[in-house]
Amino acid sequence: MLTDKKIIFAVSGGIAAYKAADWIRKLRREGAEVQVVMTGDATRFVTPLTFAALSGQKVYEGMFDLDDAERIPHISLAAKADLILVAPATAQTIARLASGMADDLPSALVLANQSPVIICPAMNSNMYLHPATQANLERLKSYGYQIVDPDSGCLACDTEGPGRLADWSSAKETVYSALSEQDLAGRKVLVTAGPTHEPLDPVRYLGNRSSGRMGFALAVTARRRGAEVTLVTGPTEIPDPPGMNVVRITTAEEMAAEVLELSAGLDVIVKAAAVSDFRPADYSTGKLKKAGAGFTLELRENRDILKILGENKEKRPLPLLVGFAAESNNFIEEGWRKLRDKNLDLLAINDITSDDAGFGVETNRITLLKRNGDQENMPLLSKEDTANLIWRRVTRLLAE
Ligand SMILES: Cc1cc2nc3c(=O)[nH]c(=O)nc-3n(C[C@H](O)[C@H](O)[C@H](O)COP(=O)(O)O)c2cc1C
Repeated sequence: MLTDKKIIFAVSGGIAAYKAADWIRKLRREGAEVQVVMTGDATRFVTPLTFAALSGQKVYEGMFDLDDAERIPHISLAAKADLILVAPATAQTIARLASGMADDLPSALVLANQSPVIICPAMNSNMYLHPATQANLERLKSYGYQIVDPDSGCLACDTEGPGRLADWSSAKETVYSALSEQDLAGRKVLVTAGPTHEPLDPVRYLGNRSSGRMGFALAVTARRRGAEVTLVTGPTEIPDPPGMNVVRITTAEEMAAEVLELSAGLDVIVKAAAVSDFRPADYSTGKLKKAGAGFTLELRENRDILKILGENKEKRPLPLLVGFAAESNNFIEEGWRKLRDKNLDLLAINDITSDDAGFGVETNRITLLKRNGDQENMPLLSKEDTANLIWRRVTRLLAE
């Protein structure tokens, strides 16, 4: 998504300036073109040479850094920026930006720019919590700039509290959102993800191979496109994505209870979770032991959450329902049957017969079936690209 995006990375003079080096590498790996500008004091912490090597571009340090008399750096750099990221943003730089000063290159550049601006404060807790800094941050918000709140923790100055430069994952999400189409703005979306675990005894459960990656990709991309997102997920190792309501459940019954409770007032529900169809009929409070005669497990069927939602839909036109199906045989036929039976608007069929798609891998190859009879076969894509493609189809359906 960042391919060919031009990001101005403004580094100011804080101890976290060294972390900017890693962020620049990550942005470039995501495809962005990164132009670094530094305050004079930032160059005391990290040399411009480091940033020049990592960004592959000349680093601008001063307003009067003219290597071509016709190109005034703060104007020409601002004109080509898709986004300005100020990281770390010192208390001094924040104050300078809040008061509209233009006495160094980063501040003049921000004033001359019309693209989104993201500020990542990093400083000692007392400096951060000081009313002057807080008032300056409020003022920056009122200009429409996005603030990536610092984390709390042990700071370089050996104190505990808020002020540590945010994690890359939070900054990354803010960058992606700022550069994303906002076609889900104002929409409320619920996504389910992951497997369910149906307990058998205190140590065993019935589960499946879902990693949760497809559902998490759907939740993250919906959030980037402006939606208010609730993610209901079964057990996965993926950490909570920033900026959304994450509800963690274990069993299919817990998933059903949460989804049905949360479904009122939503615009879209995407059920990407691999919910177990069955659960053990009995739960043993003690660990089941071998008795030398084999073991027969009796199973009960779990409630079909999509079907219940589809039936409810008859009474209420919204939310739009998107299902996922993992099929190994006759998957198109099975898909159409599911779409009809469960009253869905869109169904994504995972091809689980190949190694590079479906469960547990980074990529997916889906076939999309639409209620009006359209069928689209998608190529092998990353799960994020697959998710974006699904959201584009969903926004079209919402518009219809
Ligand atoms: C060792 C050291 C570490 C510093 N770390 C920070 C910091 O993390 N955050 C901050 O706001 N200021 C920090 N400062 C103070 C800034 O460097 C100082 O306010 C400077 O004028 C900032 O200028 P600039 O915003 O133009 O880069 C630090 C100063 C020193 C000497």
